[in-house]
Amino acid sequence: MKTLVTGGAGQVGSQLIPYLCELGNEVVVFDLAAAPTTLPEGVRWVQGDITDAQAVSSAVAGAGPEVIFHLAAILSAKGEQDPHRTYRVNLGGTYNILEAARTNGVRQVMYASTIAVFGPGLPEPVQNEVSLRPTTMYGVTKVAGELLGEYYQSRRGLEFRGVRFPGLVNAGVPGGGTTDYALWMYVDAVRHGRYECFVEASSRLPMMYLDDGLRAMVELSQAPRERLKRCIYNIVAISPSAGDFADAVRKRVPGAEITFVPDPARQKILDSWPHEVDDSAARSEWDWRHEYDLERMSDAIMERVPALIEQLGR
Ligand SMILES: NC(=O)c1ccc[n+]([C@@H]2O[C@H](COP(=O)([O-])OP(=O)(O)OC[C@H]3O[C@@H](n4cnc5c(N)ncnc54)[C@H](O)[C@@H]3O)[C@@H](O)[C@H]2O)c1
Repeated sequence: MKTLVTGGAGQVGSQLIPYLCELGNEVVVFDLAAAPTTLPEGVRWVQGDITDAQAVSSAVAGAGPEVIFHLAAILSAKGEQDPHRTYRVNLGGTYNILEAARTNGVRQVMYASTIAVFGPGLPEPVQNEVSLRPTTMYGVTKVAGELLGEYYQSRRGLEFRGVRFPGLVNAGVPGGGTTDYALWMYVDAVRHGRYECFVEASSRLPMMYLDDGLRAMVELSQAPRERLKRCIYNIVAISPSAGDFADAVRKRVPGAEITFVPDPARQKILDSWPHEVDDSAARSEWDWRHEYDLERMSDAIMERVPALIEQLGR
C-alpha cells in the first residue's frame, strides 16, 4: 500500500517509517527537515512546509497515497515558545493535509492527537468523550484538528482516525515535549552519572513505549470500519511518576544521582494534564492492548542508550 508520512524526521515518524516498510508499505515522507542519511530502501523524501497548501497538495498528488499518517506538529513545550507558529503548523497544516487528501482521493488520514487535549480538573480516569478545554496552544490546536478531521469524515467522505497518545518514550531524540525528562533520565544517568529532572518527583502522567504507540496507529488504521463508533481514541499503557522513572533508572545504573528541580513553565503544562486516562473504547472497539510496562520499557531503552549516546556525543 502507498503511504504518506508527514513529520517523518521526528521522534515518532523516524520509527514509524521503518515499521511501515517492514509491513510492506511504499512510503513517501513530507517534512520540513532534510532527509536523514540513513533511510530504509525505497523511501522517497519530499522536503516541504506543511503550512504551504500548494506544496502539500503537490506532494500528496505526486505520492498518490491510500493512507496519510499526519504527524508533523510543534509539540507542547516548544509550542508555548512560539504559539503563532504552532497555530499555523498544527492547525493550518492539518487543514492543508485534509484538503489535499480530499482533493486527491486519499482514503484515510491517521491523526496523532495527545492527552494535551484535556484541560485541568477533569474527573479521573479521564473518559474518551469529555469537555476538551486545554490551556496550551498545542492542546488547543490538537482539539481543533480532531474536530476538523471529524468534519471531513462526516461531511467530506474522508476516513479520519486518530489516537490520543500519552507521553511517548523510546531511545530516539525527543522533539521538545513536556515528557522528554523520562528519556534524558536514562541517557544522562549512563553518560554523566546524574540527571536533574525538570519536573517534581511526584509528577505522574500516562506514558507509553513508542513501539506500542506505533502499533496502535497501524492497528487503528486497519480496524474494520463497522466496529468503530468514533474517530478519536484515548490509548494508555502505564502512569508512572517521575520518581518511579528515577527508581527504574537507579536499578539499572547503580549510584546514578537523580535530582528534581522543577522548571515552572514545564511543570505548569504537566500539571494541566490528567494522571489517569480511560481507554476502554479502544480496547473494546479495535482490541488495543499495550505490551510494555515500566520494567520492560526500561530494559528496552537501556539496550539502545549506548547507540544514542554515540549519536549525541558525551
Ligand atoms: N512524542 C510524544 O510524546 C507525543 C505525545 C503525544 C502526541 N504526539 C504527536 O505525535 C506526532 C509526532 O510527534 P513527535 O514526537 O515525532 O514530534 P517531533 O517534534 O519529534 O517531530 C515533528 C516533526 O514535524 C516536522 N515539522 C515541524 N514543522 C513542520 C512544518 N512546518 N512542515 C513540515 N514538517 C514540520 C519536524 O521537522 C519533525 O520532523 C505529533 O503530531 C505530536 O503531536 C507526540
